[in-house]
Amino acid sequence: MKERYAIVLAAGKGTRMKSLRDDISKVSYPILKTPLLKYVLMALHPLGLKKKVVVVGFGGETSSKIAEKEAEIVWQKEQKGTGHAIMMAAPNLSNLEGNTIVCCGDTPLLTTQTLGALLDYHENNHNDLTILTAVLDNPRGYGRIIVDEKGQVEAIREQKDCSKEEEAIKTINAGVYVFDNKKLFDNLDKLSTENAAHEYYLTDMVGIFNRLGYKVGHLSCRDFQETLGVNDRVQLAEAAKIIRKRINTGLMLSGVSIEDPDSTYIGPEVEIGQDTVIAPNVHIYGTSKIGQGNEIGPDCHFENVEIGNGNTITHTHLSEVRIGNGNDLGPYLRARKGVVIGSHTRIGNFNELKNSNFGDGSKCAHLSYVGDADVGERVNIGCGTIIANYDGVNKFRSKIKDGAFVGSGTILISPVTLGEKSLSAAGSVITEDVPDHAMGIARDRQVNKEGYADLYRLQAEAKKNKKE
Ligand code: UD1
Ligand code: CA
Repeated sequence: MKERYAIVLAAGKGTRMKSLRDDISKVSYPILKTPLLKYVLMALHPLGLKKKVVVVGFGGETSSKIAEKEAEIVWQKEQKGTGHAIMMAAPNLSNLEGNTIVCCGDTPLLTTQTLGALLDYHENNHNDLTILTAVLDNPRGYGRIIVDEKGQVEAIREQKDCSKEEEAIKTINAGVYVFDNKKLFDNLDKLSTENAAHEYYLTDMVGIFNRLGYKVGHLSCRDFQETLGVNDRVQLAEAAKIIRKRINTGLMLSGVSIEDPDSTYIGPEVEIGQDTVIAPNVHIYGTSKIGQGNEIGPDCHFENVEIGNGNTITHTHLSEVRIGNGNDLGPYLRARKGVVIGSHTRIGNFNELKNSNFGDGSKCAHLSYVGDADVGERVNIGCGTIIANYDGVNKFRSKIKDGAFVGSGTILISPVTLGEKSLSAAGSVITEDVPDHAMGIARDRQVNKEGYADLYRLQAEAKKNKKE
């Protein structure tokens, strides 16, 4: 088998996005918090390509970050068209024998299956160039496929260069091609900018290959939706809807229940185990991994979380958090970076956790802040507890050891340790360590003043009368 390579074109500005920003290119726009370019790279990934080259330019720093783990980066400093973009990849590829699949970073719906089929078709037919085509009801904006009387592809005509008759053609260029690599690079210098956009069109290689007598073919994409190119924000939303449906459908078919797919947003890299049930209004993004038999939602937002099995989580916001099994979380928990929750805990009703460990069987059931703390096992944190971890300049860590009972309204001034099975009295401001099995009490002793309530009321009445 011949070696296979890929070039992804991602340097264009994306003028039709109508953005004021100059730091991001069109291919960095996200769908489900994942950039368009990443979708294309994910589709290429399983094809076992020898080399992948991504051409970046406008907003190139951002695009490079998206692609650098997966591909070699080349720069197209000035964007003079798709053909010019290919020229930039010459130092990386021009000497190599094999076939190169070229695709655009703005077509996020392409699947591995389609890209693989195009490569196979190209090789099996011994083509020099194979174009992926589709038939669209509304072909506006796409290059049209011009065929001769024998059905051979003669040329691709860009929308801007089309005659009235050509505009009516519904077979379009999806922007994906497989080229004989050598023949591509050996003939790039034949491209010119004599067209409506004054750009080097990669699509002109079709005419050039034909004139050289090279074999040009095309493969029609079974699902025309796959070829949708994102040029403006309307197409971005269209593509997002299709991708979301694809992901949700895939999960449901693999054994995940999604009660309302229309209000469920799950990113392309998220993994969810069987028998997990997702209620409405749930968003799960990034590299989140969720186990089996969980009940999630309604109204949750997770990013980069690792969640075990059998948890119940409602109305909760989690990011960069690891969670064990059988926990009862929410409603209204927010846990962020660096939180590790064990198993069989109960955390909910308006709590915030940050950069803390929370041990097995521990509870924090109402209105507390736990920041920079190591909470052991079977700890009970009473209502309205605050771990004061910040002095305005530095952050400090506190420890609440196994079996401790934190009375309601305790403020722990970090760094401080509550010992094993210790207790803090409700309303205490704890500034010093409490030993194992001890009780820390840090508030004034109560004084009851007999008859004072009546006196107080009389004084208030008198004040009122004086005013009148
Ligand atoms: C292109 C094709 C068109 C096809 C359509 C499919 C050309 C001339 N036209 O049109 O036939 O139907 O894709 O979606 O190729 N880019 C660069 N450098 C540049 C210009 C563009 O890297 O100088 C990149 C863009 O970032 C984008 C891709 O190439 O990812 C396609 O460019 P775009 O301007 O979107 O081309 P279309 O007008 O959509
Ligand atoms: Ca495009």
